[in-house]
Amino acid sequence: MQFLKNDLLLRAARSEKTERTPVWLMRQAGRILSEYRRVRETAGDFKTLVKTPELACEVTIQPVDILSVDAAIIFSDILVIPEAMGLNYEMEENRGPVFPKRITTPRDLQTLRIAAAEDLDYVMKAIQLTKKELNGRVPLIGFAGAPWTIFSYMIEGRGSKTFSEAKKILYTQPDFAHRLLEMITQSTINYLQGQVKAGADIIQIFDSWAGILGPDQYHEFSLPYISKICDAIERTPKIVFAKGAFFARQKMNALKCEVVGLDWNMDIGESRNQMPSKVLQGNLDPCALYGSFDDIRRETRKMLSGFGPDKHIANLGHGLYPDTDPEKVKCFIESVKEFSSRS
Ligand code: CP3
Repeated sequence: MQFLKNDLLLRAARSEKTERTPVWLMRQAGRILSEYRRVRETAGDFKTLVKTPELACEVTIQPVDILSVDAAIIFSDILVIPEAMGLNYEMEENRGPVFPKRITTPRDLQTLRIAAAEDLDYVMKAIQLTKKELNGRVPLIGFAGAPWTIFSYMIEGRGSKTFSEAKKILYTQPDFAHRLLEMITQSTINYLQGQVKAGADIIQIFDSWAGILGPDQYHEFSLPYISKICDAIERTPKIVFAKGAFFARQKMNALKCEVVGLDWNMDIGESRNQMPSKVLQGNLDPCALYGSFDDIRRETRKMLSGFGPDKHIANLGHGLYPDTDPEKVKCFIESVKEFSSRS
C-alpha cells in the first residue's frame, strides 16, 4: 500500500486519536469551482467528463489543490450503476438526471444484468490515475449509492419530491422490489470491490433518499442491503451516509461500517448516544455557508464542540450547493483545522 503524507481521515475512521479533526465536503468537486466549470466545458457534457479518466482525475484533485481538504472523492456519479446494469441515464442541464427508459414491471428485470467491475472500467481507470497523480498527498474516497436510492431512480426515472412510484412498489409488489434491490446490491458489491482493488482508500455509501421511507420500510428495504454491502467490503473502512434516517440510528450502530454520516437535522449528542461504536461525520447545514465569515467560524466552532475532539470527521450535512462562494467554503475548512488543532 502507498504511503500517505496526510492520513488523518483514515486514522480518524479507525477511531484513533488525531492531531486535529479531518475535513472534506460532499460535492466538493463541482460547480462551485470555476476551475471545474472550465474542465466541464472542455468535456462538453457531464457524462463525457465522468467517462474520461484524465478529466475525472483532474476535477477530483481540484478541491485538494484549491480548498486544501483532507481527502479527494473520485469524480463520478451514483447513477453509473443503473447504466452498467443496462438502464441508461442522461444528465439534463439544470434539471438533473433523467432515465429515457425506467423499470415498471417485474418483466423489465429481464432487461437488466448484474454489473461487473469491468463494466465500469472507466471509473477504475480514473481511480488508478488519481491515486498516481495524488502521489500520497491525501486518501482517495470511492463511493456508490445505496440500493434503495438507486432503486428509486430506476423506478421513477428522475428525481422526485415524494418518490411515490418507488414507494408504491414497496407496498404493492414487495417481492419485485426485493428482486431489483438484490440485483443492485450484487452490482454495487462488484463495483466497490473493483474500486478498492483500483486504489480507493475508503468507501462512502450514499443513501440520499433514506428519509423518504418510514422506519419499518427502511428496515425492510434499505438497511439489510447496505448491511450486505458493508459485509462484502471487508478490509477497507466504510462510511454510511443515510440522509434523513434519524429513526434508524440505533440499528445503524450494528452495521459493519466504521463511520456514519449525519445530516444537519440530527442532534449530535443524541447520535453519539445511539451510535456509541461509530465515528461520526458531518454535519454543518450547507446553507450555513451563505452566512458571513464570522457566522461560519461561529457555527463551525459550535459543531466541533458538539462532536468533541475524537471520533469525528468534519463535513457538511449534505452536498455543497452550487451557488456557494468558494471563499466561504475555504473559511469552513480553515476553521475546522484551526479550532480542532491539538498541537
Ligand atoms: O465531489 C463529489 O462529491 C464527487 C462527485 C459526485 C457527483 N455526484 C458529481 C455530480 C458524487 C459523490 C455524486 C453523488 C450523487 N449523485 C448523489 C448522492 C449524493 C447526494 O447529493 O445526495 C446523488 C443523489 C446523485 C444524482 C445526481 N447527480 C443529481 C440529483 C444531480 C443533479 C443535481 C445536482 O446536484 O447538480 C447530479 C449531477 C451531478 N453529479 C453534478 C456533479 C458535479 C452536477 C453536474 C454538472 O456538472 O452540471
